[in-house]
Formats: sequence, structure tokens, C-alpha cells
Amino acid sequence: MSEHAMSEQYKTPFEEQLNHCQQHINDKLMATFSSLPFLDSPLATAMQHGAVLGGKRLRPFLVYAVGDMLGIPKENLDAPALALECIHAYSLIHDDLPAMDNDDLRRGQPTCHIKFGEDHAILAGDALQSLAFEILAKHDMPHVALPDRLEMIAELAASSGFAGMCGGQSLDLKAEGKQVDLAALEQIHQHKTGALIRCAVRMGAYSAGERGRQVLPLLDQYAQAIGLAFQVHDDILDVIGNTEVIGKRQGNDQQLGKSTYPALLGLEQAQKKAKDLYKDAIAALTELEKQSYNTVTLKQLAGFIIERNN
Ligand code: IPE
Ligand code: IPE
Ligand code: MG
Ligand code: MG
Ligand code: MG
Repeated sequence: MSEHAMSEQYKTPFEEQLNHCQQHINDKLMATFSSLPFLDSPLATAMQHGAVLGGKRLRPFLVYAVGDMLGIPKENLDAPALALECIHAYSLIHDDLPAMDNDDLRRGQPTCHIKFGEDHAILAGDALQSLAFEILAKHDMPHVALPDRLEMIAELAASSGFAGMCGGQSLDLKAEGKQVDLAALEQIHQHKTGALIRCAVRMGAYSAGERGRQVLPLLDQYAQAIGLAFQVHDDILDVIGNTEVIGKRQGNDQQLGKSTYPALLGLEQAQKKAKDLYKDAIAALTELEKQSYNTVTLKQLAGFIIERNN
């Protein structure tokens, strides 16, 4: 049996959990799209292309994992999980545009603008962003108090806007072709990628009200570490990954002269950085365990982030 066929057959319990989350999010996204008017319009098709086809669903997974650790029933977490995935999908569609990273491949498919044109790719990103806030404002969250829902809305807005993802994307573009120092590179990565990952963790915490806020400093420490590790590993995959497996063009960062961890530190030191961040994440979880929280899933997720091959 080929190695590929074997790995298709055997999945770790963590991979099973992740697959389950992917399926759940896809079902919920399809249900959301099916309630929209003009379903056969090019805009609706472009939005579905960007949001539904493929994707690891790591940010939703984090929302559910944190909520579950705090004892929150899953039906309360669908809204923040879906909203965040819509923002993420919008960020990827716009990230791939010719004016930004000019990519033609995403999740093993032609990018949104290649398939639907730049005009509809821009609009699909815009509409996914609005949809995220509509979901977060309106979707059922039976056990979540209104002030906690409002806090989630504010968190998602801040993390995706100027002080978060968009700000980071701007810094990333400005740093193309330049040699930036380590502090500047960390700032880029923490904003463009770390902010939405931290948002996943914080929204999971807000779903539990006061109980969640009490552990927010430790959860933040975990989130900052895995958020940065996630982008460091993304940079590494651009160097050592294989286009077919990562589903995007390997080597694009080098071609664009992007400021990345392997470009600044070399591959080996970038890998060491990812491992050190993993250890920081585990240290935060160890403190949470002392307060009797079950952190097994969050620990496995931190490991997956620095070991994944796509
Ligand atoms: C890719 O994110 C963009 C970054 C922030 C590095 P993911 O690796 O989570 O992309 P999908 O959703 O799984 O395709
Ligand atoms: C993406 O960073 C950050 C986003 C906000 C989308 P990259 O530009 O490295 O992501 P990929 O490699 O294209 O997925
Ligand atoms: Mg980019
Ligand atoms: Mg990109
Ligand atoms: Mg990348």
C-alpha cells in the first residue's frame, strides 16, 4: 500500500476531531448560503467558492475547543465560529488579488479572482465580511448573555480591521523587498495572522462570561504563541512544502520578496522559533491545568500547528 493510501486510512483522534469540525462548518456555511437571495448570482457563487471549498477550519476549531474547555454547549459557539471563518475566507480572497500577493492557486483550486474576475472577488470578500457580522449579531446563542455577544462583535471588528488583520496586511505589503528586523517581522505576523487566531480564543472565552474572562490572560498567552507559530510555519511551508499538498504555489513568498522567518533567520532557526513558540503555548496550558481545566485538545492543536504539512 502506498504511503499516501495508508495516511488516508489512518487518522489520529485529533485529525478525526478536526475533520468533524470541517464537516460541521461546511454544513453550517451551506445552510447560511442557502438562505441568501439570488443564490445563482456570480457574487453568491464567488462567496461560496471562497468560503466552502477546502480549508482546515482551524479558527472555528479553536473557538469550539476553548468553549468546550469552559463547559459551553456547542450550539453557542456556531455563531462566532462561522463569523470568524467568513472573515478568514474574505482575508484569503483579498490576499490573493493581483494587487496583493497575486496568487492563482488556493486550497488546490483557482483563486477567486481567477475564476470569477477581480470585480467579483473584491465583492465576495466584502460581502463575506458583512455576512460575518450579520451572523454574529443574529444567530442563536442560547446561553450567551447579550453583553458577551457584543464583546465578541467588538473583538471580531478590532481583530479584523486596522489594529488587526488589515493593519498587518498593510505592513506585510510595505515590507516586500525590504530587510526588516525581527521585532518588525513579529509585528507583521502578529497582526496579519495572529490577531484572528487570538480572536478565536477570546470569542470562545467570552461565550463563558465571567468564567472565561478569569482565564483570559492565560488563554491570551496561548493564543499569542500559536498565532505567531502558525504564520512562522506557513512561511516554512512556502519554502519546504509541495504545491500539491499545500494547495497554493510553493515559493511565492521568495518570488515576491516577502519578509518571512525563513528569509530573515534561515530555515533551521525558523523551525526552532516555531518550536519555542509551541513551548510557550504549552506553558500557558500547564497553568490552566493547575486550575483543573482539560487542555488536551488545545495541546494537540498547538502541536498540529507546527507539524502540519498544509
Ligand atoms: C492561510 O491560513 C493564511 C494564513 C493566515 C497563513 P490557513 O492555513 O488557515 O488556510 P486554510 O483556511 O486552511 O485554507
Ligand atoms: C496571509 O499571509 C495573511 C492573511 C491575512 C490572509 P500569507 O499571504 O502568507 O497567506 P498565504 O500563504 O497566501 O495563505
Ligand atoms: Mg499575504
Ligand atoms: Mg498570500
Ligand atoms: Mg504564506
